[in-house]
Amino acid sequence: MKFFIDTANVEAIRRAHERGMVDGVTTNPSLVAKEGRDFRQIVDEIASFVKGPISLEVVSEDAEGMMKEARELNTWIDNAAIKIPMTWEGLKAVRMCADEGIKTNVTLVFSPNQALLAAKAGATFVSPFIGRLDDVGHIGMELVESIVQIYSNYGFDTEVIVASIRHPVHVYEAAMIGAHIATIPPAVLDKMVNHPLTDVGIKRFLADWEKVKKK
Ligand code: G3P
Repeated sequence: MKFFIDTANVEAIRRAHERGMVDGVTTNPSLVAKEGRDFRQIVDEIASFVKGPISLEVVSEDAEGMMKEARELNTWIDNAAIKIPMTWEGLKAVRMCADEGIKTNVTLVFSPNQALLAAKAGATFVSPFIGRLDDVGHIGMELVESIVQIYSNYGFDTEVIVASIRHPVHVYEAAMIGAHIATIPPAVLDKMVNHPLTDVGIKRFLADWEKVKKK
């Protein structure tokens, strides 16, 4: 299973990278805005050590504008994946990107049919937003299950990025389903490391070791 890190915070990405947890990075306009820094500078810093795909999102709403942005963003780094929203205009841009050899990540996917269309258009990645579905009373992970099944039925190459992950159980469930990739916020990665029994165990071992030292 590949882990992408869902943030534009360079230090958080570096911390995960030092531990072998970064197969790629996903950003979006909200995550970039949170950093309050120049987008290009952030991207250059991430690309200086992340060799896997780095998702950079377009903000145009028409295919022509999306393509203009996609072509420009694709010159910034060697490993860009252009994040394009799941719309009719978006699908047109995805197809054009595929024809031009530009990698894409179709974002804001909330139904199996949307994911099917993205794959047909030639998307490199598709991003179902699990947490946001849970927020409105749907079971987000059922969407991942459906997409993985549909792609496997027909042998689509498009990889599924489980996105809008909110807690460690989302990562566990994505792994059980066999989703290709989870894009994980740094705070969730931190929670995945911790277990109270690990802490208790370390304390106990250290206390016993003190007794050995006293002999
Ligand atoms: O990868 C998409 C993700 O950034 C959206 O997450 O928590 O804003 O729904 P969230």
